Amino acid sequence: MTELSDVAASDLRGIRHLDIDDVLAYVHRDLKRLPDYTELYKRYLRQRWDVYELDFSQDIVDWRERMSQEERDAFVGISAGFHHGERQVEVELPVFMLGGSEESKIYMSSQIEDEARHTVFFDRFYREVVGMPGDSVQDVLDASFEHVSETFVGPFGLLAYQADELRKDPEDPAARVRYGTTYFLWIEGVLALSVMKITLTYCRERGFLPGYYTGFTATCRDEARHVQFGMRFLRDSVQEDPRLLLQIHETLRTILAINAATSRRLALESLGWSPEEVRRLMIRQLHMKLVDVGIALPPDIQDMIARIQPELAGG
Ligand SMILES: [Fe+2]
Ligand SMILES: [Fe+2]
Repeated sequence: MTELSDVAASDLRGIRHLDIDDVLAYVHRDLKRLPDYTELYKRYLRQRWDVYELDFSQDIVDWRERMSQEERDAFVGISAGFHHGERQVEVELPVFMLGGSEESKIYMSSQIEDEARHTVFFDRFYREVVGMPGDSVQDVLDASFEHVSETFVGPFGLLAYQADELRKDPEDPAARVRYGTTYFLWIEGVLALSVMKITLTYCRERGFLPGYYTGFTATCRDEARHVQFGMRFLRDSVQEDPRLLLQIHETLRTILAINAATSRRLALESLGWSPEEVRRLMIRQLHMKLVDVGIALPPDIQDMIARIQPELAGG
């Protein structure tokens, strides 16, 4: 068992050897205490990594020679949402940054940089390992778009709408909480962490894709800061004005209704995950955030959560 302080302090070389479960424990460790924005910014300065240092040469061999067609299809299916998700959150965070405190703005500059770096990570992976064609970031995004599942289109479509709404008044507390619920709680706290657990467990158990494993584990550690920021933001918002809890509930109802409407499922069995296991993983991720931060749910939302569908994408 790795010490969580090792997770906090590892450089890219050390991250290569971390277990995703330890990184997920690291994400949740501080949720009860919730560090403030300045502390998270300081942590960013210590933990940022260089995406161009990653070496994908063994990944290319694994992808072409050791993985089956089913494994490759499932892998592309589950990570295409991330490829697009990273890019979308990178370009839609600035509107959220505008309406926060100065400390929050300083922290947010770091998260925007993280998301830009994650976009480059997926761009490199899709270009160099999967072999998608294109001369620009946009070209490669276009090439992977056909693999994006409708679950991606649902929450990210909602986020695009909420970002537009926020653009009209970036300081509107209710609009900020709606946006924050979709982005930090659902997309990062549930979808992203679930995809990380699934793909990284696969890589680790099979001994495949060391470059991807290193970069995506580092991405998961960045996600710890993002989720902690988001939960702090939601908790402080509700403490300041308890009526904002209704905004969290309304947004969750919308997200869960979209989730229940999925008609196409990803075949993740070839990566070692049954639909029921994925469903339980997502529910667990959601509960861990809500319980630790003290967000209570009415019975109708609890029922919707129990019916969560295991269709995935992330940011
Ligand atoms: Fe990201
Ligand atoms: Fe993120």
